[in-house]
Amino acid sequence: MQLGIDDLAFATADRYLDLADLAPVHGVDVAKYTVGLGQDRMSVCAPDEDVVTLAAAAALPLVEDLDDAGRAAIRTVLLATESGIDQSKSAGVYVHRLLDLSPSARVVELKQACYAGTSALQMALALVARNPEQKVLVICSDVARYDVGSSGEPTQGCGAVAMLVTADPRLVAIEPVSGLHTTDVMDFWRPNYRSTAVVDGRLSLRAYTDSLAGAWQDYQAQGGAALADIDAFVYHQPFTKMAVKAHAHLARVAGGPRDAEAQAAQIADTLRYNREIGNSYTASMYVGLASLLDHATEDLAGSRIGFFSYGSGSVGEFFTGVVQPGFRQHLRAEAHRRLLDDRERISHAEYLRIVAPVNPVDGGDHVLEPTTRGSFRLAAISGHQRVYERAAAADAGSAVA
Ligand code: HMG
Repeated sequence: MQLGIDDLAFATADRYLDLADLAPVHGVDVAKYTVGLGQDRMSVCAPDEDVVTLAAAAALPLVEDLDDAGRAAIRTVLLATESGIDQSKSAGVYVHRLLDLSPSARVVELKQACYAGTSALQMALALVARNPEQKVLVICSDVARYDVGSSGEPTQGCGAVAMLVTADPRLVAIEPVSGLHTTDVMDFWRPNYRSTAVVDGRLSLRAYTDSLAGAWQDYQAQGGAALADIDAFVYHQPFTKMAVKAHAHLARVAGGPRDAEAQAAQIADTLRYNREIGNSYTASMYVGLASLLDHATEDLAGSRIGFFSYGSGSVGEFFTGVVQPGFRQHLRAEAHRRLLDDRERISHAEYLRIVAPVNPVDGGDHVLEPTTRGSFRLAAISGHQRVYERAAAADAGSAVA
């Protein structure tokens, strides 16, 4: 029996800042961003969007395509995020309600920087192995925020990926061997009192590639596939150039092709969506997977994909999956393209107005002006509670507290 990703969709905010509008503010040539970092745009959340609304929007099409029995088979929802909205209640419980899932389910939130989505995927695989009738909904949802004016600012973004993990998956079967690497390093973190990350940029680049080398060595020690038997590589993408650097590093460490063109061919399709969205932390690597599957011109069926998931702090994991025959019929490529093309370009002034998260701490009543065109929105924060609703365009007013 094979286990893996049966369905996958992503969501992002419906507005973006073009990095051409940020470069002059930082006094740099836009090529620093488009070439040096490999980023063109970054999605920016509206004040009435957060990880809950993004997560629900990503998962909605997956749930809508299931019949009643299929929905009832979702007995676990794992939501990975490092942009949590509560210290106690899982963001996943709000999402479970917004999606009208069965109460006969467990829901939990997972955190280890950008890595947590992969831990959710591995836990989901273990649960499905135990009961192959069960489906697990894994959602990775994040809003990447750095200080305005900092060097991390052009690497912001936001997005969510939802994956249905099942037996006999239609998209990608995940293979059992994993290489793991954990080390205590202060490269990037966000203390509870901050809404933006603290980062040691230089250290973070080295910590990422060290983690890749460590995870690869462990993957080999665990009996993993040879580098030459892996056809494409999907990396965590804080900015797309990081994946290019990481792949070159893996080639050095593992004896892969040294030729830049050959290396580029193994990752090029995974970078397309992230160039336009920016960092979406836990979701980023799985946006890269969507990008690969949606854009591949050659038939990927039977191809082995290598994944490197990195979360600062740090945990890294290298694992592989095999693309399933007929996967193309189950892609959501058109919806993904439409989502990105329909976003509104906002000015730098508008970006500055909305970039900070809404975070009243007085426990009073705060109604949020409807702004997002997404399927779900944060309608109010009232009496210390966040009130979410299905957006009017999607379904006239079913408020959920
Ligand atoms: P910086 O210091 O502003 O940039 O910060 P730089 O001076 O290093 O330049 C960046 C690149 O642009 C360089 O390329 C320059 O040469 C090039 P490289 O030499 O490295 O290949 N460049 C140009 N190229 C063309 N034309 C030009 C030009 N000018 C310069 N005119 C940094 C860059 C990434 C450090 C910063 O943006 C940052 O701190 N970002 C946030 C941290 C980050 O993303 N780290 C990545 C690894 S850690 C990770 O992935 C985990 C994370 O996702 C969090 C989590 O796990 O939760 C972040």
